[in-house]
Amino acid sequence: MHPHIAALYNSAQKSSRLIIGLMSGTSLDGLDVALCKITGAGLHTQIEVLKFTTVKYNDEYKTKIKQVFAKRECDLEVVTLLHPWVGKLHGTMVNHCLAQWQVNPADIDVIASHGQTIYHCPQSQHNHPDFENGTLQIGDSDQIAVTTGITTIGDFRQKHIAAGGEGAPLAVYGDYLFFASPNESRILLNIGGIANLTFLPKNGDTAAVFSSDIGPGNTMMDAYVQRHFTSMHYDKNAQLAKAGKVSEQLLQALYNNAFFNLTMPKTTGPEVFNLTYLQDAQTRSNTHNLKHQDVLATLNAFSAQVISEAINACTQNTANCVVYASGGGVHNPLLMSQLIALCPTVKGFKNTQQLGVNPDAKEAVLFAILANECIAGTAHYSVSSALGIPNITMGKVSFSD
Ligand SMILES: Nc1ncnc2c1ncn2[C@@H]1O[C@H](COP(=O)(O)OP(=O)(O)O)[C@@H](O)[C@H]1O
Ligand SMILES: [Mg+2]
Repeated sequence: MHPHIAALYNSAQKSSRLIIGLMSGTSLDGLDVALCKITGAGLHTQIEVLKFTTVKYNDEYKTKIKQVFAKRECDLEVVTLLHPWVGKLHGTMVNHCLAQWQVNPADIDVIASHGQTIYHCPQSQHNHPDFENGTLQIGDSDQIAVTTGITTIGDFRQKHIAAGGEGAPLAVYGDYLFFASPNESRILLNIGGIANLTFLPKNGDTAAVFSSDIGPGNTMMDAYVQRHFTSMHYDKNAQLAKAGKVSEQLLQALYNNAFFNLTMPKTTGPEVFNLTYLQDAQTRSNTHNLKHQDVLATLNAFSAQVISEAINACTQNTANCVVYASGGGVHNPLLMSQLIALCPTVKGFKNTQQLGVNPDAKEAVLFAILANECIAGTAHYSVSSALGIPNITMGKVSFSD
């Protein structure tokens, strides 16, 4: 047996494993690195987040990725070169984290790498009748494995596509395992660049469980700030938006997209919700002369309304639902206060820290769970069999040499 296969076999048989989850979302803010101790697998999974940090991206990374990010046309040579470059950089970032945490790389069973999404195109969002769903993450796992010396499992989304899914959101697998409760109906809400939710009704009504993208979280606000306030990446604590006034005309115009008429589950991305989308809405509503603060106030209100409508749709027949939020949007006080006001029937708004997971780490932890399933999952106890969703093993394995 090849020694790498033997080592993986050994990891799979252990009662608990050390897995590093890596997440780099559409916000391009940084690489989330979560060192997790995962015990068991499937419906018996237990997780402890031992260490977590977000390694901020510098301007070079953002500029390089933005050359191709969510662009229908770009330089294919740059895409080809970015794939190994991002992988190597992510591997180097993991090495720095391990050194800082004084953790021996030899003690890590596997790295779970999401990669950097550069394009997401479900069938509902492209105009190629000959094609089905597609999504593309770069940051080659072979580079991460070679740079760190740690076996790396990556490219999780492609199996979901191969099984007929849209490649997103994959949150349902981990959210159900870790956050479902027999005593409380829950919505796990993640507000990253794009917002998504998982609905987890109590009483084990597994048929009703699902994950879906909702629409823009931070992505349009971030893009607007980066265009007009060049030294800023985002509107920290909504200071600009708080100083502005919502334009009702622009808000109405922003709603004009077929995505909002699709039933959940559905997926989307910055390929749709971007500055061109905003400019189009401004043209239709004749609101090109708004102050920057007013545009940001309106985009903030738009995200809050879109998210609240999805929450209210889930909870209309489910009393006493509690929302547990995660992702960078939880740090946006204006967005969160509007959400609470727009969801009067929700029993409470909390964040995932109250369930033991740092809200900024949650997505990275979810990919660590998927890697754990890839090596140690057993079909009998799998989430898929419980939820009646395709029983798929996600992830591709890269060895260090
Ligand atoms: N203090 C804050 N105030 C307002 N927005 C914030 C704050 N902290 C983070 N954010 C928002 O969260 C985003 C990062 O969220 P994240 O969950 O990492 O998204 P992604 O998964 O798309 O990378 C930032 O780009 C910013 O829009
Ligand atoms: Mg991020």
